[in-house]
Amino acid sequence: MSRLPIGIFDSGVGGTSIWKEIHNLLPNEHCIYLADSRNAPYGEKSPEEILRLSIKNTEFLLDKGCKLIVVACNTATTNAIDYLRKTYKIPLIGIEPAIKPAALNSKSKRVGVLATKGTLSSTLFHSTAQNHAEGIEIIEQQGKGLVELIEKGALQSEAIRGLLKEFLEPMIAKDIDYLVLGCTHYPYLIPVLKELLPEHVQIIDSGEAVARQTKAILKKVGNLNRASEKGTHQFFTNGDVAVLQRFVLKESVQQEVSFLDF
Ligand code: DGL
Repeated sequence: MSRLPIGIFDSGVGGTSIWKEIHNLLPNEHCIYLADSRNAPYGEKSPEEILRLSIKNTEFLLDKGCKLIVVACNTATTNAIDYLRKTYKIPLIGIEPAIKPAALNSKSKRVGVLATKGTLSSTLFHSTAQNHAEGIEIIEQQGKGLVELIEKGALQSEAIRGLLKEFLEPMIAKDIDYLVLGCTHYPYLIPVLKELLPEHVQIIDSGEAVARQTKAILKKVGNLNRASEKGTHQFFTNGDVAVLQRFVLKESVQQEVSFLDF
């Protein structure tokens, strides 16, 4: 069982930012990544549709024999993780915007959250914000249009820059000192975000925390892969294989990687 792969899914290429953290922390684990790019963006879909797609992705990874599944998508986690955990027996790790550490450390008591409409309108997001950000003003911003551009690989484009300027303006005007990235596609925008934000604003995402949680759960259930050889990595996409390849190979993986259409 411990030698079985970790399954990871997202609406597209964004979850590779989580796969990268898992791969860094657990280099001996085998991984199967599913990019449902044909259906991106999830953030503009109804909760029912997000749930339906999340079930489809989970079952795809279960069919591949995964020992644990990482829902590397804030939108899918906030809309579907409760159902998935109730329905499937294997451990499921989700990702949510890192409001808690931002709220704990904010001096200005104002925190910006950039996420999809699907995440910001979910019940789970609101209960997390309520429970962990008392006394903090949260400035929410939907990143409408960003995922589509990232899916094309247009990370440094004028279109991205224009949208980000518009989205950050109200947060900067409110004097935020933390920007929480609540979508796994957005860490790829950090170079542009750093150019546009005042220097003192800290950018945080949940990628490392998800990798640590994955390790902790595998350890707890006795399923960490203790083999000494490096893991292998398979990437499935129903979108543009070349774009996914660019995101993955950026990370200079040393070991076996394969890309497949499905
Ligand atoms: N990576 C997904 C997330 O973390 C993107 C959502 C989308 O497809 O809109 O929310």
